[in-house]
Amino acid sequence: MAVATACANIALVKYWGKRDASLNTPAAGSLSLTLDRLRTWTEVLREPGLSEDVLEIDGKAVTGRPVERISRFADLVRGPAGDQTRVRVRSHNTFPTAAGLASSASAFAALAVATSDAFGQSLDPRALSILARRGSGSAARSIFGGFAVMHEGSAADGSDAFAEPMQGSTIELCAAVAVAKAEEKKVGSTDGMELTKTTSPFHQAWIDCVNRDLPVAQDLLRSGDIMALAELVEGNCLAMHANAMAARPGILYFRPSTLWALEEVRTMRAEGIPVFFTIDAGPHVVAFTPPEHLGTVAKRLAGHPEVQDVLTSGPGEAAHAAESMP
Ligand code: PMV
Repeated sequence: MAVATACANIALVKYWGKRDASLNTPAAGSLSLTLDRLRTWTEVLREPGLSEDVLEIDGKAVTGRPVERISRFADLVRGPAGDQTRVRVRSHNTFPTAAGLASSASAFAALAVATSDAFGQSLDPRALSILARRGSGSAARSIFGGFAVMHEGSAADGSDAFAEPMQGSTIELCAAVAVAKAEEKKVGSTDGMELTKTTSPFHQAWIDCVNRDLPVAQDLLRSGDIMALAELVEGNCLAMHANAMAARPGILYFRPSTLWALEEVRTMRAEGIPVFFTIDAGPHVVAFTPPEHLGTVAKRLAGHPEVQDVLTSGPGEAAHAAESMP
């Protein structure tokens, strides 16, 4: 039996588009902050008696697509290990699952660590990042704590598409996540990326935008220019959503509370609070701000009837093995 834990991450320069869907390599790099509050715990048990892999999330048996996904993922470890034993995977999230809250990032990062451990494969962080990427592109970044940068790579086998820690930031960021009242997300990131790539007239412009933003965002984190970083991160997020909205049919993740929170963040910034937003494939708004402003930002973001909760978080640690489930 092996247990691991990993934190989700939220991208400042976003990933939206695959180079090779079968290897899950991204068309461009990305930059994220791993968050302590959004965490997955996963236990992987090799069970010779099982004829199929089993998945339990928060004590409930799960069937269908999620199980197929973890089965395909486990095969990536079973193959090289020469051991076809089925697994029982038990997983627990400390935050609402799906609905665009980055749960696949922490889930596949934790699964990469726990599955490789369970099959006696000792992988270094780069190999774990490559493995986690096969489950979910953003999971490659959750292998690392703090800021992480994903390289899109160019190798046909995906061997140079991995994340690494980004060193040297002089800006310390926390996050307030305004969780919107919403059902599970309607268009998942894989389907959304594919539809955008094949039908949006803006897709190449978006990829070019990421290639320009990625080095500048790292320079701004190092130089400490938080107001310039704010403009860049918000612009990158809105460009990603503009691209998704321009797909046919258009993909629209925003809810009324999403737009309200964007305005609220910009109002706070106009008042002098260094805070800026981003949005993943869902209606929730993530506001990044230094620790001394986190309380104020969280309180302000709670002021809409469709915001059901505001989660606050500092930077998270790297994915790692653990003794037991919490
Ligand atoms: O890792 P995936 O396939 O769930 O894609 C993540 C996509 C975004 O969250 C919208 C952006 C990102 O870079 O995390």
